[in-house]
Amino acid sequence: MLTDFAGKTAVITGAGSGFGLELARVAARRGMRLVLADVQDEALQACASEQRQAGAEAMVFHLSVSDSAAMQAMALAVQQQWGAPHLVFNNAGVGTSGLVWEQSLQGWNWVLGVNLMGVVHGVHLFTPMMLEAARRDPSWCGHIVNTASMAGLVNPPNMGVYNVSKHAVVSLTESLHHDLGLVTDQIGVSLLCPYFVPTGIARSERLRPDPASAPTASQKLGQAMMDKAVQSGKVTAAQVAGRTFEAVERGEFYIFSHPQALGSVRLRMDDILAGRTPTDPLADRPQVRDMLKAQLRGG
Ligand SMILES: NC(=O)c1ccc[n+]([C@@H]2O[C@H](COP(=O)([O-])OP(=O)(O)OC[C@H]3O[C@@H](n4cnc5c(N)ncnc54)[C@H](O)[C@@H]3O)[C@@H](O)[C@H]2O)c1
Repeated sequence: MLTDFAGKTAVITGAGSGFGLELARVAARRGMRLVLADVQDEALQACASEQRQAGAEAMVFHLSVSDSAAMQAMALAVQQQWGAPHLVFNNAGVGTSGLVWEQSLQGWNWVLGVNLMGVVHGVHLFTPMMLEAARRDPSWCGHIVNTASMAGLVNPPNMGVYNVSKHAVVSLTESLHHDLGLVTDQIGVSLLCPYFVPTGIARSERLRPDPASAPTASQKLGQAMMDKAVQSGKVTAAQVAGRTFEAVERGEFYIFSHPQALGSVRLRMDDILAGRTPTDPLADRPQVRDMLKAQLRGG
């Protein structure tokens, strides 16, 4: 189990903002060497200089996690400079909303490219390196943390593309845990499932590589709801980052920012086990459901 972080290497994608920035701050405070990646160069450089001022060494990669060649070049550079990383946070992600059939195919590619393939690239490139380090040294320990979401465990309406991407990350991460368990005890895995936390996630649309077409009514409503939910979140990104390191130290798999919100997961599982049609996730917020229905049915 990875319990001693000083002098070890942490890779953090999406390091320019939100959870990634806070994870970088905790990692620097814990004496780690940092590998920081983000598609927003200015925010990335700001994070790097802040952590360097705090005394951490940092390698910086301005890239999109959806770009397999760029991710491969980063992994190679890390291996050459510092060897296998001990802690990998596949964290970069983008938020989107709207009725599931209204997302453009470019939009699907963008969201799945970042939220799913970004994590796939991190797992594909770093796990073999970590396994090799573990094979060479029986005292070597590593840990991989993938960021999914509560939206990876339930399916709120009007944000289906995001839900799909995060359910896939949950599946990938549970599979990774089981597969690694077959071959080693030296590499742990955790799955971070935040609920709404104030970060830059509601402003993701500006990061789309292709110019988005004019938003539909459902996308506008979804964006407004996401803005409100994210901004009114009471748990901070710094608290989630601190909790995440604690979970790594304890070898815990699931990391929740809002464990009190897990009732919706139980309800979904109960529906599945009972063979019931899925309960409306907005059943306990009838005003929101009625407002959405009225607006989307043109009422
Ligand atoms: N904040 C929440 O309420 C919440 C809830 C559940 C899950 N999450 C997840 O947490 C993770 C981190 O998001 P956050 O909330 O800190 O938001 P954020 O927007 O503050 O940070 C995300 C970072 O990822 C970067 N990024 C976006 N696209 C990228 C790409 N193609 N390549 C590299 N970097 C890219 C952004 O530039 C940004 O710096 C995401 O995976 C998100 O889906 C957030």
